[in-house]
Amino acid sequence: MIGNIDEHRRAAATEGGNGFLAAAGGADTDTAPVWLMRQAGRYLPEYRKIKERYGFWRMVRTPEIAAEVTLQPLARFPLDAAILFSDIMTPLPAMGVRIEFAPGPQIPDPVRTAADVAALRLPEQDEIAPFVGRAVELVRTATSRPLIGFAGAPLTLAAYLVQGSGGGDYATFRTWLHAEPRAAATLLDLLTEVTIGYLRMQVAAGAQAVQLFDSWAGITDTATYGRYGAPYVRRVLRALDTAGVPRIYLAVAAGHLYPQLAELPAEMISIDWRTPLSRARTVLAGKALQGNLDPAILFAPPAVVAAETERTLRAGLGGPHVFNLGHGVLEHTPIDSVARLVDTVHAFRRHEEGNRHDES
Ligand code: CP3
Repeated sequence: MIGNIDEHRRAAATEGGNGFLAAAGGADTDTAPVWLMRQAGRYLPEYRKIKERYGFWRMVRTPEIAAEVTLQPLARFPLDAAILFSDIMTPLPAMGVRIEFAPGPQIPDPVRTAADVAALRLPEQDEIAPFVGRAVELVRTATSRPLIGFAGAPLTLAAYLVQGSGGGDYATFRTWLHAEPRAAATLLDLLTEVTIGYLRMQVAAGAQAVQLFDSWAGITDTATYGRYGAPYVRRVLRALDTAGVPRIYLAVAAGHLYPQLAELPAEMISIDWRTPLSRARTVLAGKALQGNLDPAILFAPPAVVAAETERTLRAGLGGPHVFNLGHGVLEHTPIDSVARLVDTVHAFRRHEEGNRHDES
């Protein structure tokens, strides 16, 4: 009989979907649920095949394809949540912005002057990206695993719009914020309104959690973040107060901003690989934590992947933890490493005595 129950449990574990919403909402679960940023992406041959045929934008804009790609990693691994396949740039064309991918976003006509900002449109909520709502509905009918919707944070979207492309230290954007403070505030206001509408639409369509990606928050000092980052993030998150879904906030390379992050109305903070979860836990008291294995570790030998995954799990003890990477899955990541990571997370009992020490 006990064998049967074990069988049942094993089958449920293989299906995934265990405890993500509970942990993201603040429960100190016995196993850490796991999903990975960029779990749908270039390391999967089945993703690359579709991409070759359709190209990235067409995949994003075709609900059936976006839903299929969202589900691809769930078919391979017992992940505990799906993240919608799309991009943080998806809502911007409705504002009148032209965007190309190579493979990161490129803005051929960057926003630089007050007139450039004034030329941007504020679309109605249902005009922003209706195909995303449809993709959310399709995923919800195809899996019982929780679906995470997402958007880019206003500061990160503004960084792309002003700089014109990604990467580097965004010196042009950092100058612009301080040289054109009024245009900057207008742009961030507009992006905040669009992001609120875009996330509300995803929740209305069926997204069960939302993650706000602030990939470039870390380029700012604390004062600049306090003026141009946090207030807008707060507005977006507050607008979802009554949405009834856990709110996740990711700020990359932002250890210096944690005291400010602690004050934001998010249930869970996603930690990049630079800061041990045990240290983040003290600064971010009361928040669930998500993270934070260095994605580069997935290229190391299998025993190292398992050992570093367990080390991350131990650092995450003492409060709610959703396992993830410290940033997205890298291209060429070995698929076996992802499988080993997920299995290692699911095998680890967080409340067992022997697992309770943390050397981070
Ligand atoms: O699996 C998932 O995580 C869901 C899909 C997703 C994508 N982009 C698909 C994508 C998500 C959540 C994003 C968010 C995103 N997009 C962020 C925030 C997260 C982060 O990495 O900090 C940012 C900064 C972008 C902007 C962006 N789009 C970049 C930098 C790139 C370059 C390629 C890469 O993988 O980093 C893209 C293109 C992109 N978005 C791809 C994918 C799968 C690759 C497209 C390709 O196949 O060439």
